[in-house]
Amino acid sequence: MNREEALDSVKANVENENLVKHMLATEAIMRSLARRFGEDEEEWGLTGLLHDIDVELTEGDMGSHSKLGADLAREMGTSEAMANAILRHNETHGIPRETQLDKALFCADPLTGLIIAAALVRPDKKLAGVEAKSVRKRFKERSFAAGASREQISSCSEIGLELDEFIELGLEAMKGIAADLGL
Ligand SMILES: [Fe+2]
Repeated sequence: MNREEALDSVKANVENENLVKHMLATEAIMRSLARRFGEDEEEWGLTGLLHDIDVELTEGDMGSHSKLGADLAREMGTSEAMANAILRHNETHGIPRETQLDKALFCADPLTGLIIAAALVRPDKKLAGVEAKSVRKRFKERSFAAGASREQISSCSEIGLELDEFIELGLEAMKGIAADLGL
């Protein structure tokens, strides 16, 4: 499976454009994390791109979300490691995250929402002017983008990243695909 096929599958299964953008943003952060740690960029990127592919199919049923996604990914030909990371990014299943890939996906997922929200409160609604220090400040405001779990973002420490570095990396990664994100 190549990236184009993965993106086509995402678009075939997810109608909501914002959800597709969330998966693109997660992909960008995962690619950047892979480069940072000398891991397989394609494997990590596609895991990010596919991670919520079942989000509309499971219709908010958290007990099936990511189980179906992992099955779909496997059917599409992803590695077992990728399917496992997708399965484990949903804490509801209570399956411990083991690999760096599992842990990277888990912390990257909510960071996208925090950064998108930080762009949307700007008058120009663009990512270009967002600075890492303002995202850091927003991080501390618990009511800001409250759905972006601070605890989950902070689990970047489990892959060996300080929060500041993680925010910076995530922000730069998302700025790199700002046009795709419409931001
Ligand atoms: Fe997600």
